[in-house]
Amino acid sequence: MQTNLRGRDIISDLDLSKEEVETVLDLAFELKRKRALGEPHPYLRDKVLAMLFFFSSTRTRSSFEAGMAQLGGHAAFIDSRTTQISHGDTAKEIGEILGRYYDGIAIRQVDWGIGNKYINDVAEYSRVPVLSMQCDLFHPFQILADLMTIIEKKGRDLRRKKMVVSWAYASSYLKPISVPQSLILQMPRFGLDITLAHPPEFKLRGDIMEEARAQARKFGVGFEVVDDMKEAFEGADIVYAKSWGPLVTTADPDEGKKIQDRYKDWITDERKMALAKPDAIYMHPLPADRNIEVTDGIIDGPHSVVYDEAENRLHVQKAAMALTMW
Ligand code: CP
Repeated sequence: MQTNLRGRDIISDLDLSKEEVETVLDLAFELKRKRALGEPHPYLRDKVLAMLFFFSSTRTRSSFEAGMAQLGGHAAFIDSRTTQISHGDTAKEIGEILGRYYDGIAIRQVDWGIGNKYINDVAEYSRVPVLSMQCDLFHPFQILADLMTIIEKKGRDLRRKKMVVSWAYASSYLKPISVPQSLILQMPRFGLDITLAHPPEFKLRGDIMEEARAQARKFGVGFEVVDDMKEAFEGADIVYAKSWGPLVTTADPDEGKKIQDRYKDWITDERKMALAKPDAIYMHPLPADRNIEVTDGIIDGPHSVVYDEAENRLHVQKAAMALTMW
């Protein structure tokens, strides 16, 4: 067990070693048990987390805020638009100043080409841990919650299990690319064979694909890329199908929407899910475009684990905060 996490930033999925991720998960399971028993666990009494949002959130904001309260501390919500950030406070100023007020700084900044650099710039000047609540490239706490959920449903030995990470059509907006990128980086370390499925215009970043392939080789798991959703679903143990924008192909939202609209048949429905194993689980980080990305029958049906997945955000984030912010 690697326990030396005090003061550490968590911005990319590979910022923590496999052993450190296992430590976070072990504590997350323990905190989940304590919460179920009503046992107090105030590991961060008197500590305060800054939660800086440049983009909307339901689950991330709520789970970090509730988590800090359950750990005996407090979380302060900061909206970039209603602070002087909108009038010029720089990343250096945010790191220096919020780092002196708070015991941790959590940030969501998903703007393409900006978010990850911004969070790293804040971290460079912060004296307290910086935790990414999602950037343009990665969504590390979503993926830790996903991993916890997969272990709960499929056990700790995940070798030879097939995980499909698939693009799906959405009409609401061009969603960030961070979830699939984080999934392909983190999951090979835990033994899952990865099948990535997307139309040609929805490729992930080349450097991240290279790193994911390197992780797959290192941990001796499969890694394949296909452009057919049905082919991907065949024999799957885990189906993780969500939309993301064609950001690597074009940063122009109008062009991106036109490209996206070519693939309306990329929906997770009963016929596609029937191609997976009978006990396959369906995962989505939410929010989903219902009956566009996924049918009601699947997201509300027996394969779906989306609410456990959302709950586990709370437990993994509490574990990570308790380990980094004391
Ligand atoms: N899955 C997730 O990050 O949800 P929110 O955007 O609501 O925080």
